[in-house]
Amino acid sequence: LDNGLALTPPMGWLSWLRFGCTIDCDAKPKECISENLIKRTADLMVSEGYRDAGYQYITIDDCWLEKTRDADGRLVADRRRFPNGMKALSDYVHSKGLQFGMYEDYGSKTCEGYPGIKGNELFDADSLASWGTDYLKLDGCFADVHGMGSPSSGYPAFGRLLNATGRPILYGCSWPMFQEVNGVHPNYSAVAESCNIWRNWVDIRNSWSSVLSVMNWIGDHQDRLAPFAGPGHWNDPDMLVVGNSGLTVDQAQVQMAVWAILAAPLMMSVDLAEITPEFKQILLNRAVIAVNQDPLGRQGLRVWRSEITSRHPHQEIWHRELSDGAHALAFVNGLTHSVTVTYTHEEMKLPQLDYDIQDLYNVGTGSNQSLKPNQTLTLRINPTGVKFYKFTLLRRNDNA
Ligand code: DGJ
Repeated sequence: LDNGLALTPPMGWLSWLRFGCTIDCDAKPKECISENLIKRTADLMVSEGYRDAGYQYITIDDCWLEKTRDADGRLVADRRRFPNGMKALSDYVHSKGLQFGMYEDYGSKTCEGYPGIKGNELFDADSLASWGTDYLKLDGCFADVHGMGSPSSGYPAFGRLLNATGRPILYGCSWPMFQEVNGVHPNYSAVAESCNIWRNWVDIRNSWSSVLSVMNWIGDHQDRLAPFAGPGHWNDPDMLVVGNSGLTVDQAQVQMAVWAILAAPLMMSVDLAEITPEFKQILLNRAVIAVNQDPLGRQGLRVWRSEITSRHPHQEIWHRELSDGAHALAFVNGLTHSVTVTYTHEEMKLPQLDYDIQDLYNVGTGSNQSLKPNQTLTLRINPTGVKFYKFTLLRRNDNA
């Protein structure tokens, strides 16, 4: 979507994966979807360095609304959990130098049964803008899957209403995901024209098998998806699981590396008050973030995988071309024991040139490696882990 936003993949925080639809603040005061949670998170985004690393959007997912609209038909935030209303909350978020993200649903109800925008589109676009929304995640439950792409009444039409408010609002669409899961191939060029980011596939969950299955799906369908990513418009494989109980440190490094290769939105969903240093370090890794934010904006691909002998392949190579002729490669080991692997330029899809190699999870500490034409690269990879390298061109090889 050409609205000047998301020129690189957006980065931020979303409540859903970690906090879901927790609404009982008496039983779970620290976990319920409430202004306290958002304010606490905003404070930590600043004090713990996430904002300065590039994480900008702080976004409330489902379950923030009252079950019914007010007498005028307007959306109202839950009065107990958001006693000061959404404008005051967005002012708070903005005062921290962060951007305010909101959630709604294109259908008659949100997935958790709160009022959706259907039939109230004009009102709701106006409310969202007047509350100071900078990003809208628009879900697709309780809606006609086929009509979602309709220029006159689907997601594109609501995008025009958002635009007409005059407030720049990053537009996140779930239209492709609802079509994909129903066996319909979305018109991705229409999606990219109408939306800044869009979910492609099912919800990610707090487990390694979920991360792997999303990676498999994206890899299997990359030829249909990757060409539509670029500045202003990105595929979204869903939130970062990093920092939650479901992934080891190595597995979290895999997700962060592959999401960087994919030019995916980097949306954390973790309790920033509880996250431990090893995971925090992954989320704040500047070298990895720089790959994700590379200005060329080209989505990377799964370029090689070993034979699949069980449900998942044993090793994969993911490759992204960067500006300045560099390449980022993630070497993933899916096995539960360490492996030593050797790859050729061809397997890595690297032109036969001279490269300097930087280990992005050990910047500064790794010994400088290099790779010459016709040499192979040998690596040791941890169990369900990754080696994430940047290959920088040393000089042109005249014979290449
Ligand atoms: C489905 C979406 O895909 C999730 O990310 C989350 O927003 C839930 N709905 C909320 O109900």
